[in-house]
Amino acid sequence: MATAKAHTNIALVKYWGKKDQELIIPQTDSLSLTLDEFYTTTRVNFDQELTADQVMINGQQLAGPAAAKVTHLLDIVRQRSGLSARARVDSQNHVPTAAGLASSASAFAALAGAASRAAGLQLSRRELSRLARRGSGSATRSIYGGLVEWQAGHDDQTSYALPIMEQVDFGIEMIAILVDTHKKKVSSRFGMQQSVSTSPYYRVWPEVVARDMAAVKKAIAAQDIDQIGAIAEENALRMHALTLSADPGFTYFDSDTITAMTIVRELRENGVNCYFTMDAGPNVKVIYDQVNRKAVYSTLAAQFGTDRLVVAKPGPGIEIWND
Ligand code: ADP
Ligand code: DP6
Ligand code: CO
Repeated sequence: MATAKAHTNIALVKYWGKKDQELIIPQTDSLSLTLDEFYTTTRVNFDQELTADQVMINGQQLAGPAAAKVTHLLDIVRQRSGLSARARVDSQNHVPTAAGLASSASAFAALAGAASRAAGLQLSRRELSRLARRGSGSATRSIYGGLVEWQAGHDDQTSYALPIMEQVDFGIEMIAILVDTHKKKVSSRFGMQQSVSTSPYYRVWPEVVARDMAAVKKAIAAQDIDQIGAIAEENALRMHALTLSADPGFTYFDSDTITAMTIVRELRENGVNCYFTMDAGPNVKVIYDQVNRKAVYSTLAAQFGTDRLVVAKPGPGIEIWND
């Protein structure tokens, strides 16, 4: 029996599209910030007595495709370790599930960590990153804390994350605006595949990302939060343009998403530098230098209320322990 705790990460340069759907090899590199406030804790117990894997999230039994994704990852661990026993998986999400706040990232990183340890495998962090990738692409990056790059690679061996700055020693922070924490209608998995296969703009996305990756790495080296934020905001808008331009077109935005974007732009016009990014969901993350926290927080609180705001700092990498 083993437990792992992994934190979510929010991409500054997004992963949006796979080259290989079975192995989850992405079309492009991506880069993210792991957050301290949102995480998943998962315990795995292989048990000869079980006839099927049993998966609980926040005390609720999983079934259907969500359970199948967990079993798929467990099957990889069973194959590698030679174990045949089914597992009891007990997971707690300290993040809204399937709402565009990267629950799949912390969930599959934690599952990879706990399952491999419970099966007696001693994996390096790179091997863990590759294993987490088989559950959800964004989970590849949640093995590490701080600023993390996922190198796309071209096969299972070569597609993994690398830490860029595990201990972030400058003031980058995010406020998550929880505009709607219900389960989204279009999963990240389906949404990105639709974008790849039907958006006429998808063909330029790899060029956009290549340029943004180079620029964001320079901005990180210079600890230039304004530059990092500006790149992240533009990259997010271009990612969401791929959903609007799919066939049929769709969007993860709702009216509060647009309101939040407008407020961020107004704050900037008033000299308070901050930037927005959105993943596959309506919830907005605002990026800023911690010196601006008060000004950003109070303006967002006036619109959304403090109950819907979470201030998140750079968070740590995965922790795994034997129970
Ligand atoms: P998100 O924006 O939250 O990452 P996704 O559509 O990428 O949304 O993934 C959500 C899916 O991830 C859920 O529907 C479920 O299948 C899976 N998931 C989330 N949390 C867990 C967990 N703790 N354990 C196992 N699977 C999880
Ligand atoms: C918008 O990793 O959730 O958050 O690999 O199909 O599980 P699957 O998708 P997922 O997609 C994340 C998309 C994103 C951008 C990002 O995190 O880079
Ligand atoms: Co996800």
